[in-house]
Amino acid sequence: MKHFHFETITSTNDYCKQNYLNLPSLCYVTATHQTQGRGRNQRVWIDQPHNVLALSILIKNPSLPFEQYSMLIALSMVQILKKLAIDASIKWPNDVLINYKKVSGILLEGSHLENQSYIVIGIGVNVNNVEFAPEIQHKATSIFLQSKHTYDIQKIAKMLVKQFYKNIKKSRHHFADLLLLYKQSSCVLNQTIQFEYQNQLETGKVMDILQDGSLIIQTDKKQLNINYGEITLLNYYS
Ligand code: BTN
Repeated sequence: MKHFHFETITSTNDYCKQNYLNLPSLCYVTATHQTQGRGRNQRVWIDQPHNVLALSILIKNPSLPFEQYSMLIALSMVQILKKLAIDASIKWPNDVLINYKKVSGILLEGSHLENQSYIVIGIGVNVNNVEFAPEIQHKATSIFLQSKHTYDIQKIAKMLVKQFYKNIKKSRHHFADLLLLYKQSSCVLNQTIQFEYQNQLETGKVMDILQDGSLIIQTDKKQLNINYGEITLLNYYS
């Protein structure tokens, strides 16, 4: 697997998108310092050189649906944390939490044009952060804060990419097994959640997570099948 590392870059996701034609599929890009790191919903991803892993993986002509890559990268993160003896969970669809605090966020971007079909899977992982700004310290954590060990950021990157590639390979014939692992790692499955749906505040129990990544939620009046982006979960940090 080809790896490109930059000391400083605008955003590893942007680099993959801008250089899509020249980069090989399945390569990964890391940076010590991102000057324009982006999160979901137009949020800024705060740059923390030497503490945070900024990584993007480029997949050209993807064979899996977008949502499955999203599930597989979150699951891969949980699996490598487990190897480090850290118990983590997934807040649907792809935030990784330790003790209900966010350790890793994922931003998937892609193009589905016929002659330009790709997915960029961007992941930010709080690795060695010792503290967080007061406004986020109740909802953010790092691998260091949970394990009291500092880690080589590039080693974490390698472990994660390796686990992700292994999962992609396995998913071709055994996605159901990976879905089961994803569900076992989910902190929303079988839980009663509060969410915003079509501008309404709703409460319901998450009954299942399907192969396409959607949630089955039972409210007291109806059963909903919800796709990513259609709801905001209110009783978890994001
Ligand atoms: C989120 O939780 O909102 C997603 C955060 C994703 C951040 C990563 S860091 C590497 C890649 N490059 C970016 O600009 N964003 C993603």
